[in-house]
Amino acid sequence: MPCRVVVGTQWGDEGKGKLVDLLTEQAQAIVRFQGGNNAGHTLVVQGEKYIFHLVPSGILHPGKRCYIGNGVVVDPEVLLGEIDRLGQRNINIGPDKLRLSERAHLIMPYHKALDLAREKAKGKQAIGTTGRGIGPCYEDKAARTGIRAVDLLEPEVLAQKVSSNLDEKNFWLAKYYQAETIDPQEVIDQYLAYARRLEPFISDVALELHQLLAEGQNVLCEGAQGTHLDIDHGTYPYVTSSNPVAGTICSGAGIGVSRVDVVLGIVKAYTTRVGGGPFLTELEDENGRWMQEKGAEFGSTTGRPRRCGWLDTVVVSTAVRLSGITGLCVTKLDVLTGLEKLNICVGYELDGQRINTMPASLTKLAACQPVYETFDGWDQDITTARRKDDLPANCRAYLDALEQHSGAPLAVVGVGPDREETIVLRPDML
Ligand code: GDP
Ligand code: IMO
Ligand code: MG
Repeated sequence: MPCRVVVGTQWGDEGKGKLVDLLTEQAQAIVRFQGGNNAGHTLVVQGEKYIFHLVPSGILHPGKRCYIGNGVVVDPEVLLGEIDRLGQRNINIGPDKLRLSERAHLIMPYHKALDLAREKAKGKQAIGTTGRGIGPCYEDKAARTGIRAVDLLEPEVLAQKVSSNLDEKNFWLAKYYQAETIDPQEVIDQYLAYARRLEPFISDVALELHQLLAEGQNVLCEGAQGTHLDIDHGTYPYVTSSNPVAGTICSGAGIGVSRVDVVLGIVKAYTTRVGGGPFLTELEDENGRWMQEKGAEFGSTTGRPRRCGWLDTVVVSTAVRLSGITGLCVTKLDVLTGLEKLNICVGYELDGQRINTMPASLTKLAACQPVYETFDGWDQDITTARRKDDLPANCRAYLDALEQHSGAPLAVVGVGPDREETIVLRPDML
């Protein structure tokens, strides 16, 4: 399986990190291709917890190389902090282990300041961003005023770009948002210090990945966020500023379309969302609180409580269609243990009509009523199950319905956060 892609099928936090860690066994290279440190990917290995924001989730495996592709927006301070924290845990990350694309755009202090100022100004209409400067950084990329990793290697170019960008950004910060301005020289000095440390990591990632694939090595692409946070296909404007769908590996890592043979969609056994925006199956009752508490549903990046609700297969089947998902990995099934009845949303009703897609209009989406199928719950502890047959019959019925309504075969089921707490149904699909 030369090139596999892992994507989130919902609104992020589906458990992509755990799956990437698991799939790294059969890969030589792991690459992030979009998003930035808005992501928080959690792995638990023999009881030890790790949260990655920029470094790919394969990094714990010795002998594997991790890549940050050109489509990722990189905050150098966060990247270096992550490398240092891993070093303190005896996981040493040198350029032999991690490569940063010279074409990746850098998150600058003014991106964070603008992100926060805009959210504040929006008041109740706020998107609920992570405040990490993601949107403003992608804006500059599209406006062709962005600063890329390669600019760290040319101090004069860096200084000129920072100064001219700050001429404009400081105007907005001071005059429009009444926020503090930023001193260009401080930013230049700070980024030149990062440059000294990051220089050995900066490389032509797209070319290196091409060479690996040409040698027949296995490349694993790690998506961030989820399909419904996609700036094109998601619940716009309550989305992130990149494309978390699988096709983005072409633009975001430079991997040709024809290279991909496996696309795994990660599905949480229920639904969560952090931040604002539509969520038709949201629960504000004791069932929602159960998921929130038992699932420890707090954002890995911001610590905000995640909104929780029933599984929505309109959401998941849309993701299957948009990314050409070949196999589904269900996570956090164990969190549902103990609930008496479970609902799965199998379609929406809009103006008396049954539909199976999500309207682009938020007004129409808000008018949709979820149509539910109800299932009996189970009480037995499933965290020690390692085969589908070990699961209670009601649990298997829930999984069968998930598979049927989502439109892609089940490959993996997670029954706990640890690497070991996993049922592999279809090793051939991994
Ligand atoms: P990601 O952003 O998609 O990588 O997901 P996060 O790491 O933000 O959130 C998923 C959370 O669920 C993490 O705390 C994981 O450790 C945890 N997790 C993943 N799979 C399972 C599972 O099967 N069961 C349980 N109980 N927790 C899981
Ligand atoms: P992982 O990779 C969940 C959400 C934010 C907000 C919206 C826009 O861990 O699944 P941004 O800062 O990107 O401009 O915020 O997107 N968001 C995520 N929600 N998981 C994530 O990443 C997210 N990354 C961004 O909460 O609603
Ligand atoms: Mg997360």
